Amino acid sequence: MKKLIVVGSTGVIGKEVVELMKSQYQVIEVNRSSGDYKLDMSDTKAVESMFKEIGGFDAIIATSGYGKWGSIDEHTIQDFHDGLNSKLMGQVNLVMIGRKYANEGATFVVSSGILAQYPVEGGLSLGVINAGLEAFVRGAALEMKSMRVNAVSPSFARETMELMGMDSSTGVPAIEFAKLYKEAIESGKTGEIFRV
Ligand SMILES: NC(=O)c1ccc[n+]([C@@H]2O[C@H](COP(=O)([O-])OP(=O)(O)OC[C@H]3O[C@@H](n4cnc5c(N)ncnc54)[C@H](OP(=O)(O)O)[C@@H]3O)[C@@H](O)[C@H]2O)c1
Repeated sequence: MKKLIVVGSTGVIGKEVVELMKSQYQVIEVNRSSGDYKLDMSDTKAVESMFKEIGGFDAIIATSGYGKWGSIDEHTIQDFHDGLNSKLMGQVNLVMIGRKYANEGATFVVSSGILAQYPVEGGLSLGVINAGLEAFVRGAALEMKSMRVNAVSPSFARETMELMGMDSSTGVPAIEFAKLYKEAIESGKTGEIFRV
């Protein structure tokens, strides 16, 4: 069975990804506080140790990372650094370090988000992070000839809106995003941003 690493497997979207993929792949679950491996993906040493321990793998999906949600007045400079270090560099770490350990033809899927193209009040940090990540995916795909790298850009998950106490009627069920990660792996494409 092919090996799939899911970083962020306990999250709203990651849970659905694991459910969708587990009949086809040996899924290795990774989070900070639970899973087959526990690590913070912003910690490059921990990421390197994880890949060394796992050995070759065929696919990795990252549905993980932090970015500040808040108005410009609520943003400190440190908030930008924290989000860039977590959601942007955390996922970049998984690709940059993971490619040394991945099997030939392996595929990487990271998570960006709709705020890269469509700003909303409160989403300043995440917009910057998501746009940077999408640029990384396009650039890395050009040079990673024997592997593929794509991003899924979720809009707003219905379950997340419910957790935030918002009206969730315009939300997209997280399973619909999970299907995009599967498509990103199976499509044969690289350098693409998958959206519902
Ligand atoms: N949900 C949405 O509506 C939505 C919309 C647009 C974009 N996105 C993006 O899609 C991705 C998944 O979103 P989500 O809502 O499913 O997230 P979530 O429910 O907050 O879950 C995040 C998952 O990632 C793990 N995690 C967080 N930081 C980590 C780190 N530094 N290292 C390793 N694991 C980490 C968490 O487990 P631990 O806490 O145990 O580490 C958890 O399993 C995120 O990148 C998010 O920005 C989501």
